Amino acid sequence: MTEASDFASNVTEWQRREGRHDLPWQKMADPYRVWLSEIMLQQTQVNAVVPYFDRFLKRFPTLQHLAEAEEDDVLAVWSGLGYYARARNLHRAARQISCIHEGQFPTCFDDIVALPGVGRSTAGAIAVFSFGQRHPILDGNVKRVFARYFGIEGYPGVKAVADRLWCLAEKLLPERDVQAYTQGLMDLGAQVCTRSRPRCGNCPLAQGCTARLLECTDVLPTPRPKKMRPQRSTVMLVMEHDGRLMIEKRPAPGIWGGLWSFPEIDAVGNAMQACRSQFGAEVRAIDQMTPIEHGFTHFSLTIAPLLCRVEQRQSQAEMPGRAWVGLDEAMHYPIPVPVRKLVSQLRGRLALQAVPGQAG
Ligand code: ADE
Repeated sequence: MTEASDFASNVTEWQRREGRHDLPWQKMADPYRVWLSEIMLQQTQVNAVVPYFDRFLKRFPTLQHLAEAEEDDVLAVWSGLGYYARARNLHRAARQISCIHEGQFPTCFDDIVALPGVGRSTAGAIAVFSFGQRHPILDGNVKRVFARYFGIEGYPGVKAVADRLWCLAEKLLPERDVQAYTQGLMDLGAQVCTRSRPRCGNCPLAQGCTARLLECTDVLPTPRPKKMRPQRSTVMLVMEHDGRLMIEKRPAPGIWGGLWSFPEIDAVGNAMQACRSQFGAEVRAIDQMTPIEHGFTHFSLTIAPLLCRVEQRQSQAEMPGRAWVGLDEAMHYPIPVPVRKLVSQLRGRLALQAVPGQAG
């Protein structure tokens, strides 16, 4: 037996014995479900994905339902899962499949990888789990397994390192049992070869693992070189009138594109004037709320929310892309997590009068 086939059979046998077999997307090899799960799992762990996966499928049971949906409705179901470009790409891809592939999920790898939001590893996983095809995968967890087993140094975000890992992924891919092998790599990365405190005692690859033998699992894979994340700040206008809050839809490019949020200004001192001139709202009092820190991949954002108590508002504020909504209603809009936190904080804080049409 070659080293490659030993590696693969250890992973495959372990998966059959110890791996995960009851995840919701494993119940049937339906490409729509597999695709949806792989997109949701790109930056999110299984436990967090499961409830969103179930809710998404209830709301959009088929690819056709998704293709015919409004983007706002897709974002609303996604709301809370983060990385919203995934939801926008999913929706665009569903429409593409509907137009170009006559509503049938493509079976050819080149067509799958051409869908918005689908990279090489995701396309490989979809082809393997939906159609039983033979393609390698290399997501973050699998990179960690390979980097440790083969003692590969260097940050995997660097092309030369990624190329080396892809070569290994191809070389190690077995001729048969590709589904169990692929799921095994994912399960090992998620459950055994974890980033911190890996469970080497339970690992089917422990015998040949370079990082374990050299006791350097803590430094492999090489982390992303430390660059200070720039710090940005913003002021959010949380305008409240008769128990309703003003939210607006954000423009598509830029952070939280297409989501609804509170309007933003540069400086606290401009709040009163901005409420009047931009939103036709006369403010009687302004309270500072607790600032919120939010981390993005490339920067950190400090949000200083101002609760602006509005005593009068003009119809100028009623325009497309703006809405005055009750607290419960706001939670049904596609709003980003920090805004969701703010709305939750307000539940306790606002002495709400009864709002027509608002539940509770
Ligand atoms: N991570 C990425 N894809 C996955 C899958 N299909 N099952 C479990 N974890 C995953």
